Amino acid sequence: MAILVCGGAGYIGSHMVAELLEKGEEVVILDNLEKGHRQALLGGKFYEGDLRDSNLLDLVFNENKIDAVIDFAADSLVGESVVEPLKYFENNIGSTVNLLKAMRDHKVRHIVFSSTAATYGEPESIPILEEDKTIPTNPYGESKLAVEKILKWCDNAYGITYTALRYFNAAGAHVNGKIGEDHSPESHLIPLILEVALGKREKIMIFGDDYPTEDGTCVRDYIHVTDLANAHLLALKRLRNGGKSIICNLGNGEGFSVKEVIEVARKVTGQVIKAEIAPRRAGDPAVLIASSDRATSELGWKPKYNSIENIIETAWEWHKNNPNGYEK
Ligand code: UFG
Repeated sequence: MAILVCGGAGYIGSHMVAELLEKGEEVVILDNLEKGHRQALLGGKFYEGDLRDSNLLDLVFNENKIDAVIDFAADSLVGESVVEPLKYFENNIGSTVNLLKAMRDHKVRHIVFSSTAATYGEPESIPILEEDKTIPTNPYGESKLAVEKILKWCDNAYGITYTALRYFNAAGAHVNGKIGEDHSPESHLIPLILEVALGKREKIMIFGDDYPTEDGTCVRDYIHVTDLANAHLLALKRLRNGGKSIICNLGNGEGFSVKEVIEVARKVTGQVIKAEIAPRRAGDPAVLIASSDRATSELGWKPKYNSIENIIETAWEWHKNNPNGYEK
């Protein structure tokens, strides 16, 4: 049976496809290539198109024997979501609803859904547990939380079991050197720092140094993209074996401040990396660190790339060898 990976040509999706192929799974990919890259696909059967296209979904499910879906297809820029909430509700909720309708009609019974730490909003305590309050502070997090609720009702009505994985800060690149992070425009901290190291950018702006943290800069839990992909593999196996629907955090359980990340990048790259303090970015919580105990106990997940040095090293290899990302 095949696995359908929606948004499989994106940053996390392409690393997922790589792991599935390595495990010998049959992989079908659907991506509209709005943000994804055809070159990021190391194999599998590719369909170019959108999740909101019901005819295409019918075709994909009719042409392939699919028993499970992994859904990465989404808009994921927090700042943009505040300015254009309807785009996020339409794209992130609308497209998943369409996918679920097709799954119901074609009797596909398992889905692993890409959710986010942004579902929590300002955390009430650290580390964050799955049962903590979810009060998103932006439409991106709200759209993912809405889908989590929709999934619950689809399980109830149609018996579609799900695993919603709430990622903390995805980072790093595949150790094979063939795939990595290429967003345009780039907004994430680690790739931006590495662009400074490459001389593509003059300096990195540190968004706020007056947060209630040790050095005043925001603290995040960085998790390697291949570790994320592996959690999906385990989630899939569990669902195929009859496991019940579940929500799990995915992080390393350790936080690093913006200043610490810059310092590690200086060591890894051997470059100066100029930094400058700038005003806070709207909507950034001071500290986000996951408890991944549930992923450990329920999925048997254990991150392999659990040092920030290692994560940045893999990202640096990719950026050094692909300074302009994938060939356009
Ligand atoms: N930052 C800077 N300068 C930059 C870019 C980022 O100081 O130029 C800071 C941010 O303020 C933040 C940290 O670096 O404190 C990490 O920022 P990222 O943009 O790399 O990541 P976020 O934590 O904002 O976002 C990530 C995911 C989102 C997800 C969110 C959950 O990218 O998809 O975590 O809170 F929603």
